Order: sequence, then C-alpha cells, then structure tokens
Amino acid sequence: MALVTTEKMFKDAYDGGYAIGAFNVNNMEIVQGITEAANELNSPLILQVSSGARKYANHTYLMKLVEAAVQETDIPIALHLDHGDTFELCKSCIDGGFTSVMIDGSHLDYEDNIALTRQVVEYAHAHGVVVEAELGRLAGIEDEVNVSAEDSSYTDPDEVEDFVTRTGCDSLAIAIGTSHGAYKFKPGTDIKLRFDILDEVAKRLPGFPIVLHGASSVIPEFVEMINANGGALEDALGCPEPMLREAARRAVCKINIDSDLRLAMTGTVRRVFNESPAEFDPRKYLGPARDAIRELVRHKITDVLGSDGKA
Ligand code: G3H
Ligand code: 13P
Ligand code: ZN
Repeated sequence: MALVTTEKMFKDAYDGGYAIGAFNVNNMEIVQGITEAANELNSPLILQVSSGARKYANHTYLMKLVEAAVQETDIPIALHLDHGDTFELCKSCIDGGFTSVMIDGSHLDYEDNIALTRQVVEYAHAHGVVVEAELGRLAGIEDEVNVSAEDSSYTDPDEVEDFVTRTGCDSLAIAIGTSHGAYKFKPGTDIKLRFDILDEVAKRLPGFPIVLHGASSVIPEFVEMINANGGALEDALGCPEPMLREAARRAVCKINIDSDLRLAMTGTVRRVFNESPAEFDPRKYLGPARDAIRELVRHKITDVLGSDGKA
C-alpha cells in the first residue's frame, strides 16, 4: 500500500467514534516500533515529523524509513509534517513526498493565521496533500518555542466556522487544556479538559475532524523507570487516558503522542545501562527501546484510540 492522506482515515474515525494516533518519529527504532504495533493490530497510522526531527535525521533518511514502513506493512500510513511554521517548510515537505502538513499559525493574529493557512492550503490541495491548521494556543514546549500557561488560550468556538471556511483546511487542532511536554498538570490538581469547548466546536463544524495536540499521558511506569535509573524528572501528570478515549468518541480524529514515546525509550535505555554498565553495543539498548515503543503503541491503539482493526 502507498502512503495515503488522512482523508478517509478521519472520515471513518469520525463516523466510528475512534481516533488515529499520530506518533512523532526521529529515527529507525521509533519508526519500527510504532509501525510494527499498528500493523499487528491492523490500525491506520499517522507518522509525523517535526521540523526538529527533520533537521536531526534529514528529510531523505526519514522518507526512506517511512517508505520502508509502508513496504513492510499492510496498513494505511500517512506522513505528516508536525507544527510547520512557514509556507516554505510546508512546501518543501509537500514537494518531498509528505501526504499531510500542519501549518501552525496559532501564535499569529487571527487574520494572519488565516492568510498563512490559506496560502499553504492552496499549494497543498493543488498537490493532493491535506492540511491541518490550529486555532487557540497550547502551553508547553515544542521545538525551541516555550509557551507559558499565561500565554496559552483556549480555542474560541465562535471563530472556527469562519476560520475553516476561509482557509479551506482539512482538519483543525484546538486548545482545550492539553499541553506539550512531560509537565502538563501539577500533581494534586483536578485535571479537566474543556469538553464543552470541543462539543461547541463540533456543533459549529459537523463531521469535521478535530485534532488534539499535547495528548501524552506521561505514563508513571516510565517516569518511575527513568528516576529509578539515575534520572531526575519532576513529578507531573499527563492527560488521563479515559479522557482521551472520551475525546476520541467525540469529534477528535487525530491524537498526537510524542512525550510518552520519549519517556518509554529513555526509561528503557537507562534501565539497560543501570543493569549492564559494561554494555556498549547500541543494539542491546536500542532494541529493548524499540520493544518498549511497540508495547506502548499497542496499548495506545487498543485502550486509548480504539483504532485497532480499522485499517
Ligand atoms: O509538539 C512537538 C513535538 O513533541 C515534537 O517535538 O519539536 O522537539 O521534535 P520536537
Ligand atoms: P506530547 O508532548 O503530549 O506528546 O504532544 C505531542 C504533540 O502534540 C506533537 O505535535
Ligand atoms: Zn503538537
């Protein structure tokens, strides 16, 4: 099967009350762990690449890894640019074989966000590529940009119809209280996601796919594994998985997960080094890290996203 866009995946997910996992990839073991899990569970899949990942691993290497994943599996896979911040970056990914791009103009004024998104949509659609846009601003860290909680803002449902109509975007990321990174909610807080905003947005945009960024759960098992093996992460809470499952039953069709992969990988590598300090064969720590990613993604697909068996 060739790389696909997210169009059919999202329609099926919306109608079926589940979501597609969009997992960030940076190297071969991450691509393999994710795609093996999705293939075993017959789940559609989005592999996403940030501009930082593209700088780290190089466009061609990432393309070839994803092409290998497509060749080795029987599931629909979309290749998506995560948090594109300029027209030029989006164009470069479209020209280079991505099937989906995000243009993130959420830090811009409303009208500037519309103008930039519209420009990307026109180019993308002319090349058979779909576009995710963002309205509202998440807190947390992505690439070098750190948005404080005070500078974050929920999506205003009054704006979404106008924004989607004028930009022509294919899916919309909204801010309902999730945030990027491993420190989302302070321990002891009563975690609330603004499902009222999600439902209000869905009412204004019937059938339109909504995207949730910052949706890692900061799984305690991996935080503990890191700290038990010489790490020093602060206590923090992520998005509770039952809430994500609920979002997937509603209008959310794409759920972005990166931090949980990082925690699983880092915890596993730290444990190997702690248990075997003399180890210096990369396969002996990257192999178990790949296994941990596979298990984690199996869990997400089955227990959080509900996309198993939907390929
Ligand atoms: O939302 C951002 C993703 O976690 C990607 O992170 O920009 O450090 O690759 P990165
Ligand atoms: P997390 O940091 O919660 O994994 O969010 C990832 C994300 O939104 C990528 O765009
Ligand atoms: Zn994000």
